[in-house]
Amino acid sequence: MDGLWSGRIATGAASIRSSAIRDLLKLTAQSRIISFAGGLPAPELFPVEEIAAASELALVEAPLATLQYGLTEGYGPLRELVTSWLTRLGMHATTDQILISAGSQQGLDLIGQLLIDPGAPVAVEEPTYLGALQAWQTCRPNYLCVPIDQDGLDVAALERMLANGARPRFLYVISCFQNPTGVTLATERRRQLIELAARYSLPIVEDDPYGDLFYEGERVTPLAALDCELHGELRHVIYLGTLSKLLAPGLRVGWVAAPRAIFSQLVMLKQGFDLNTGSTAQALAYYACRDGLLDRHAPRIRALYHERRDAMLRALERDMPKGIEWTRPRGGMFLWLTLPEGYDAQLLLKHALDAGVAFVPGQSFHPSGRGANTMRLNFSHSSTAQIDDGVQRLASAIRAMESDRA
Ligand SMILES: Cc1ncc(COP(=O)(O)O)c(C=O)c1O
Repeated sequence: MDGLWSGRIATGAASIRSSAIRDLLKLTAQSRIISFAGGLPAPELFPVEEIAAASELALVEAPLATLQYGLTEGYGPLRELVTSWLTRLGMHATTDQILISAGSQQGLDLIGQLLIDPGAPVAVEEPTYLGALQAWQTCRPNYLCVPIDQDGLDVAALERMLANGARPRFLYVISCFQNPTGVTLATERRRQLIELAARYSLPIVEDDPYGDLFYEGERVTPLAALDCELHGELRHVIYLGTLSKLLAPGLRVGWVAAPRAIFSQLVMLKQGFDLNTGSTAQALAYYACRDGLLDRHAPRIRALYHERRDAMLRALERDMPKGIEWTRPRGGMFLWLTLPEGYDAQLLLKHALDAGVAFVPGQSFHPSGRGANTMRLNFSHSSTAQIDDGVQRLASAIRAMESDRA
């Protein structure tokens, strides 16, 4: 950077680093590479015709709402629709607690600005969603990392932290089919966590973009619904949802359901961010979804991703050398590999790119800097044939790295 600008970048912004995933996405745009790196939905499932019809309807039935500035809180009919979805999930939230955001990513950004002072403690699962760490880079929190296992967040470990005096501003948790590991917070732990939140006055930010992508059993009840069950309303939990995984991420439409006590402050912050989430995208989302599109569309997504998850699990079972472990997610878009201690996933990525396959090394999902021997694989975006081929390529990359080490 030249002298004019170098001394002028704000302290918070000067420390920002580019996302390992965004950088990788540029590389994997080359067609010879099979990419398990991104978190992209399968494009062949985008309901293009329904969205085209919705855009026409929106322009004919509600041209002003579609093209004019709108309320910061969001487009009224869309907020009502979201409220009905949340009611179905067991939440007692009213429409005046729903803020429409530009994807749930903007919800994370707003929450960071609202609740994090530099140096303030924030509890996160480790590993956690890289995009949240990025959103909060300029807030410079002090992360308290809570371990996770097959059943999600280790609630007993969190309880020990709280009992020892830790007082995080909030706990951030991806409660279903977590990004990056694919694990889900077990029902019993959910109840314990909500009780813990009540006992220690701990706010929880529940990020739930994947909850509807379940391939076994049923939709898991969100923490936000258990919070409502205990208190009759949203008290401890701020709940984030999105249309990105169920409809199309290009719309950039998500929502924040927040306790009444902080709702108006979130809205005031958002006024300064963007005045309002794009009116056109909101109207389109509403007209596409108002007659139950998501209920018809979600089973199609689940069926395809279920097949792809199974294909990846089968291929891993067939091809992975001994000593490598992986999660078996019951939904979502990712699974998580752990290489033997001492292996370096970043080094493996070089061999993997040579072999024509990409993944995301796991270290960047770890605020503590651990996890050098871990990696995230996406199974939603590649065909079963590509998954089969890509896992074979990955296995040969591991062998190439091992022979280099020998
Ligand atoms: C856990 C998690 N939260 C938030 C997001 C952001 O989603 P959106 O497209 O709604 O901004 C993602 C996207 O991958 C995610 O995995």
